[in-house]
Amino acid sequence: MALFAIGDLHLSLSTEKPMDVFGGEWIDYVDKIKAGFQRMESDDVCVLCGDISWGMSLEDSLADFQFIDNLPGKKIILKGNHDYWWNTATKIKNFFDANNITSIDILHNNCFFYNDTAICGTRGWMSDDECSLEQNKKISDREAIRLQASLQTAKDAGETICFFHYPPRFRNTICYDIISLMNEYNVKKCYYGHLHGDGHRFATQGLVDGIEYGMVSADFLNFVPYRIME
Ligand SMILES: [Fe+2]
Ligand SMILES: [Fe+2]
Repeated sequence: MALFAIGDLHLSLSTEKPMDVFGGEWIDYVDKIKAGFQRMESDDVCVLCGDISWGMSLEDSLADFQFIDNLPGKKIILKGNHDYWWNTATKIKNFFDANNITSIDILHNNCFFYNDTAICGTRGWMSDDECSLEQNKKISDREAIRLQASLQTAKDAGETICFFHYPPRFRNTICYDIISLMNEYNVKKCYYGHLHGDGHRFATQGLVDGIEYGMVSADFLNFVPYRIME
């Protein structure tokens, strides 16, 4: 039994969004994902850190969910900035039930336990120059509320690990709200995705101010889920 993470599968099995244009590493990426997940066993758990499917609705994304469902192990998903299909947790769960998708759970204002380790998280936020100060603050506040709700549900955990789509730290763009919540709840490890191409070079990795950061975008991992713990 092991815990894994990978972000940014960017599937588009029933929509027209070829990823090959994003760089050579994305050629045949669906086959690479399938091969990469073969390192997982049926009792393993993998957190998918957002940017899961290009579909614009749950129906659009069904083939992508079925593909994920057929990969080994249990998957816990959180929202990325390109998950336009995202809906309320209840609607997503009902859609999964109706389509016999049984191995995918939703991380949204809640937590999951892997032994006594809590899996918490939210999409997060990276301050955007195209947004006003007020807009950036509003989004950042909302994400902090979601993270706090998630962390609250994990109070009795032996250890808590946070998962995000956006990096809490990227060069001099730092989401202080998210980081101070991790400190408040004694979170020592977090994983995130979102960064592609050139962005990989600037990813925060390793220990910074008491928190260990890990970047898990699929193209960064050569489409092989990262093993966090046994
Ligand atoms: Fe992405
Ligand atoms: Fe993203």
